[in-house]
Amino acid sequence: TDYQAFSHQIITWYQQNPRDLPWRGTRDPYKIWLSEIILQQTRVAQGLPYYYAFCEAYPTVKELALAAEEDVLRLWQGLGYYSRARNLHFCAKTIWFELDGKFPDTYEGLLKLKGVGNYTAAAIASFAFGEAKAVVDGNVFRVLARYFGIETDIASGKGKKEFEALANEIIPIADPAEFNQAMMDFGARQCTPKSPNCTICPVRNTCFAHLYNMVPELPVKINK
Ligand code: ADE
Repeated sequence: TDYQAFSHQIITWYQQNPRDLPWRGTRDPYKIWLSEIILQQTRVAQGLPYYYAFCEAYPTVKELALAAEEDVLRLWQGLGYYSRARNLHFCAKTIWFELDGKFPDTYEGLLKLKGVGNYTAAAIASFAFGEAKAVVDGNVFRVLARYFGIETDIASGKGKKEFEALANEIIPIADPAEFNQAMMDFGARQCTPKSPNCTICPVRNTCFAHLYNMVPELPVKINK
């Protein structure tokens, strides 16, 4: 199908243009969870030193669970949105004291953790456990809206559902983690918000927005 051609091209692009990020070399759900919580409201360059500091101070969920909250918050200093740090600590205690130290290993199980929503659950489930759940962040909205010509408002509940359903339909079962990382990087570095360089895009010949000169109009985001 077309979907397979698209996901194959995106993955091929990613393999030629990968960002070398430390959490990509691991399948440890704890480290992946840490990276995704840090990156929720933080840019990669800003989040990197915090990721390293947390991995060093708390190498496993056990050390984080047994840490004093004030120490965790101190290490978080400068990142903002402190509820993220409080939820991290709270979840670590839940996992250590109530779940026998075992990280939930399914999308549904991960969703039950405090502060873990669809996006983070999909990231951990796919990167650590190979579950075919699509991560859908701003980058993914943009790539899908442009390539498939979807004009639904990405800020609406209807839009979020529609994009998530599409992403989950096209994610290849054979390699969901690779596809998710590829979509994030493709959106961040090739299909950029402003003035993307479509002349070097590997999917320009079949991209709706490129063919109809609608790249600047997509995705549609109606500010309320
Ligand atoms: N932003 C959020 N999650 C990310 C990831 N896994 N890699 C790169 N950027 C990200």
